[in-house]
Amino acid sequence: MKPGKGGFNILFTCVGRRVSLIRHFQRTLAVLGLEGRVVGTDVSEDAPAFHVVDRAYRICPVDDPGYIKQLIELCKSEQIKLLFPLIDTDLLKLSESRADFLEAGTNAVVSDPEVIRIALNKYRTHDFFVSNGLDSPEVFDMGSMVEEKFKYPLFMKPMDGNASKGIFKIRDERELLFFRDYVQKPILQECMHGTEFTLDILFDFNGRVRCVVPRKRIEVRAGEVSKAVIVDNKNVVEQGWRAGNSVKGARGCINIQCFLTEDEKVKFIEINPRFGGGVPLSLQAGADFPRWIIEMVRGNDPGDLRNSYKKNTYMLRYDDAIFLDGL
Ligand SMILES: Nc1ncnc2c1ncn2[C@@H]1O[C@H](COP(=O)(O)OP(=O)(O)O)[C@@H](O)[C@H]1O
Ligand SMILES: [Mg+2]
Repeated sequence: MKPGKGGFNILFTCVGRRVSLIRHFQRTLAVLGLEGRVVGTDVSEDAPAFHVVDRAYRICPVDDPGYIKQLIELCKSEQIKLLFPLIDTDLLKLSESRADFLEAGTNAVVSDPEVIRIALNKYRTHDFFVSNGLDSPEVFDMGSMVEEKFKYPLFMKPMDGNASKGIFKIRDERELLFFRDYVQKPILQECMHGTEFTLDILFDFNGRVRCVVPRKRIEVRAGEVSKAVIVDNKNVVEQGWRAGNSVKGARGCINIQCFLTEDEKVKFIEINPRFGGGVPLSLQAGADFPRWIIEMVRGNDPGDLRNSYKKNTYMLRYDDAIFLDGL
């Protein structure tokens, strides 16, 4: 690997376990014949992807007041062209500092703060979908629960949660009373049944939707999809484009999650304005977002990407490991 100075260097923050995505970016640079390295940061050296990136940096926690300053210094010293966030926690900080990164020569591929604020608050997410004419599970006001007669089951989750932590199906009033206090900052929703989809959506740097890839969830482990398949359900794809077109100020890859109910209604539940954990399936199916983002940054428009993915491609994940003599 040649030194990264002047090359097409890419930085991922909070690399964690995102080995597959990072390897894809490394291959993409090679395929495009670009010199450059993939740099990663994490708060901890025992993050698996920390040992897959070409150069890794341990940096301060995201909530440290010096986090952004430290990243910008790193971007300057490593001459980073593109920066991608991989988890929710630093999205807002990165988004609000986009101009400072640009000044340092780094294009932070992160959506505008307004998009992040909608995504990080599930009440706002719900209101966003509804106000754009998109279907979303009904949200109930827990304050009025004495007067109202709820139809069980219901669904409760933290309004600012992630990775499916603290989610509960609520079967009766007794459980409602318990979980209302147990779940931090809860949101109470109509409980959805049916098939769950994640839509990987690519935005260009003019904020236009270029590609929507529907991944059907088959199995989830520890909050991340472990088995999934590309299913080109017409309804889901159509509504996915509508949802994507409603998001103003998005950049790069985001994903939107929804349920397809038994009566074929598409009900949106979540927006994740970053590469999602299951995105390797879309990349494998041919929707090469990393390549297209790099090409767009280099001024080459990738053209019509709507039918770029192969239907019926499956992803069956298994455990793998990085073995090290020491940290
Ligand atoms: N209203 C709902 N009805 C049924 N299941 C739901 C509902 N909302 C969320 N879920 C389930 O909980 C999971 C996590 O919810 P989500 O809103 O995606 O939050 P996060 O991924 O940030 O934890 C979803 O993938 C889905 O399986
Ligand atoms: Mg989710």
